[in-house]
Amino acid sequence: MSQMFQSVKIGEMEIKNRFVHSATHEVMADNNGRITDELTKRYKNLAKGEVGLIIPGHMYVHPLGNAHHGQMGIHNDDMIPGLKRLADTIHENGGKVAFQLAHGGRQTPKQMIGTQPLAPSKQSRDPVTLNKPQQMSEELIEETIEAFAAAAARAVEAGSDAVQIHAAHGYLICEFLSPFFNKRKDKWGGSDENRFRLIKEVIKRTKSRLPDDIPVIVKMNTNDYTPFKGITPDLAAVYAKWMTVLSVDAVEISCGTYYTFHTIRGEIPVPEMAAGLPMWMRPVAKVKLNFQKKGNIFKDAYNLDAAKKIKPNMGDTPLILVGGMRKLSQMEEIVENGDADLISMSRPFIREPFLVKRFQEGKSTEASCVNCNKCFAAMFNSIPIKCYEKGLPGF
Ligand SMILES: Cc1cc2nc3c(=O)[nH]c(=O)nc-3n(C[C@H](O)[C@H](O)[C@H](O)COP(=O)(O)O)c2cc1C
Repeated sequence: MSQMFQSVKIGEMEIKNRFVHSATHEVMADNNGRITDELTKRYKNLAKGEVGLIIPGHMYVHPLGNAHHGQMGIHNDDMIPGLKRLADTIHENGGKVAFQLAHGGRQTPKQMIGTQPLAPSKQSRDPVTLNKPQQMSEELIEETIEAFAAAAARAVEAGSDAVQIHAAHGYLICEFLSPFFNKRKDKWGGSDENRFRLIKEVIKRTKSRLPDDIPVIVKMNTNDYTPFKGITPDLAAVYAKWMTVLSVDAVEISCGTYYTFHTIRGEIPVPEMAAGLPMWMRPVAKVKLNFQKKGNIFKDAYNLDAAKKIKPNMGDTPLILVGGMRKLSQMEEIVENGDADLISMSRPFIREPFLVKRFQEGKSTEASCVNCNKCFAAMFNSIPIKCYEKGLPGF
């Protein structure tokens, strides 16, 4: 039998196969970050579809890290009953779940939080929101570390089988890890060790609050693709090693920030993306997005080369590979070669929640996602996600 359908362990958590639903912001929470029926329905289908480990969309751990409309919150205890309904639904339908804990950092739009977004350094405006961030004080850094740990404890109380710390895609923890975003000269910046300090403290504090059998997973960038040097595969390999020293139970590797579309290689739906911006920003945004198109061509398994660099630094700690994973035969080959231990997908599951079941029953060998990225444009326009290949309403 294909290794993809054999069970695998992350720490003490046993997963029935090697398929992971990579965190995908759904735009389906209510205005207070609470779980809705739309959300439970989405994850019921994915669990029924035999996805072994389901990581729902990122959840903000602190009100100042609320990056999107319709984002789920895990920032206070009032969220727990709804989150429990979400975890229960996944369990009742045979899946395991890991809540993704996140802080939007400088990519949080100012109008979401009513103040300048937080960042390691105040340098440069965000290329999408055009907001200038504020440099975080010691007090705010400490408050944020505590917010991650408290959110992790809530996740477990709600029944999550594991937690994932979101340290990718240019959000707060990624910013601290990145020499491009982090220009600090204090103990939180200036060297790789110092830039690693925030995630180190978050991991340590989180672990200290969780039972030993609850795995802590990190999602991090292999490459920031920023205009000047940020995280690169070589640096990510060093960080991965340090994470294993801290007994992180698995690392998912991804790439990109708001500077490019490389997180989601494929088409750039320019008119749909521009529509998500204020009117006055649209003409320039269209020029910039059209310029990016050529550099964003879809490629299968686009983080695989980075995985080959990072995996040897991780000992026995599982690596979860995301980004352009579409063909079952390629997934099997990657796992057999030992370049990754689990395979993660986002866009394919938006189109085909029952994809894994179809693979298992021999009804399909490849995801039918065409990487049009209109699901992402929907998210950018605060419209609940689904496959909009045939057109986003109004276009
Ligand atoms: C609509 C949309 C929302 C996303 N939301 C998140 C998120 O909440 N957290 C996260 O870590 N990644 C998020 N991602 C990135 C995916 O998890 C994944 O890393 C990326 O799409 C590449 O995988 P794929 O080629 O299988 O889509 C999102 C992607 C899309 C398309």
